[in-house]
Amino acid sequence: MRILGIETSCDETAAAVVEDGNRLLSNAVASSMELHIPYGGVVPEIAARSHIEEILPTVQKALDDAECTWDDIDGIAVTYGAGLGGSLLIGVLTARTLAIAHNKPLYGINHVEAHVYANFLTELGPFFGTPTTNYQLPATTPVFPMLAIIVSGGHSQLVLFQDHFEYVLLGQTHDDAIGEAFDKVAKMLGLPYPGGPSVSKAALSGDPMAFKLPKAKMDKYDFSFSGLKTAVLRLAQREIGETHAFPSIGLPERLSEAQKANIAASFQRTAIETIVDKAKIAIEEYDPKSVVIAGGVAANQELRRQLKDGLPLPIEFPDLKLCTDNGAMIATLGCFKAMNNQAAADPYTLDIAPNLSM
Ligand code: KG4
Ligand code: ZN
Repeated sequence: MRILGIETSCDETAAAVVEDGNRLLSNAVASSMELHIPYGGVVPEIAARSHIEEILPTVQKALDDAECTWDDIDGIAVTYGAGLGGSLLIGVLTARTLAIAHNKPLYGINHVEAHVYANFLTELGPFFGTPTTNYQLPATTPVFPMLAIIVSGGHSQLVLFQDHFEYVLLGQTHDDAIGEAFDKVAKMLGLPYPGGPSVSKAALSGDPMAFKLPKAKMDKYDFSFSGLKTAVLRLAQREIGETHAFPSIGLPERLSEAQKANIAASFQRTAIETIVDKAKIAIEEYDPKSVVIAGGVAANQELRRQLKDGLPLPIEFPDLKLCTDNGAMIATLGCFKAMNNQAAADPYTLDIAPNLSM
């Protein structure tokens, strides 16, 4: 079973081919991230225009790298939500057209659910293995019941999977997602977009215990990161001897590199601890057989360290390139849909769902 996955929900135009839900044959990504850097965040219109230019070459690269022709492809999976409307449209219309033209079943994929499926990729096809295409994959397939810690730019959720397509949402954020908090703290500290990687880079030279920041007290498995973000703002204002009225835009030039590093490290430790603390309680209550992490923030090394050190069961991680948005996770979930005889979408009517949730 070979599925072509297409992902265009945000600023990555991505396509990949996955075999049998565990074997990665190709993973092509064209990112428009560079174009958004001057604006400090993704500009939807620019992202959508870039998808139009990149989508067909990226799909062709995914097929070429996998050494597949259309005859070798059993179906097409595409992200139809959640994401930016204009960006989703490009992927969905392309996938619908390809499905009709090549007479393949089409699977509509929930982007957030697909992030979890990056964990099911345990084997690499012939295209991989050179230093430039090096991927570190988990050695074993996750087993059910499985606790998924979903941490991205748009989501912070704990989800308990009893099986494929059978899951319950244990809890989620009431305001900002953890990735969003990283991005906002990066802005306050004058660190470049995207914020997650630059905050964790700055944190490397800081002391994670330099400052005590508050953790929101939420219902059992729910999160809140907006209070932490405000606490970082107040801390930065105090550090430079200013009041609450001082504008955040003026902070970067007044803070020293050491202060920035200490704030970044303390924020990162606190934000990650919040997630890990709740995951531990969920493991005690539900006794899952495996735990996986998913979403862009799953690339965070402090999160990986705290989970490895703190959880009562072993955990493996997807390759960093499979944590941020990619076509491989879309193709993988598409494979499981096809292998489990889930209904295919109508290629004439599949619509986008920008606010889709788990
Ligand atoms: O999953 P993703 O690529 O897009 C969404 O579906 O939201 O996640 C993007 C988010 C951004 O907020 C980015 O700052 C964050 O993931 N991120 C990180 C790291 N790499 C990306 N956050 C913390 N540490 C990282 N190393
Ligand atoms: Zn994502």
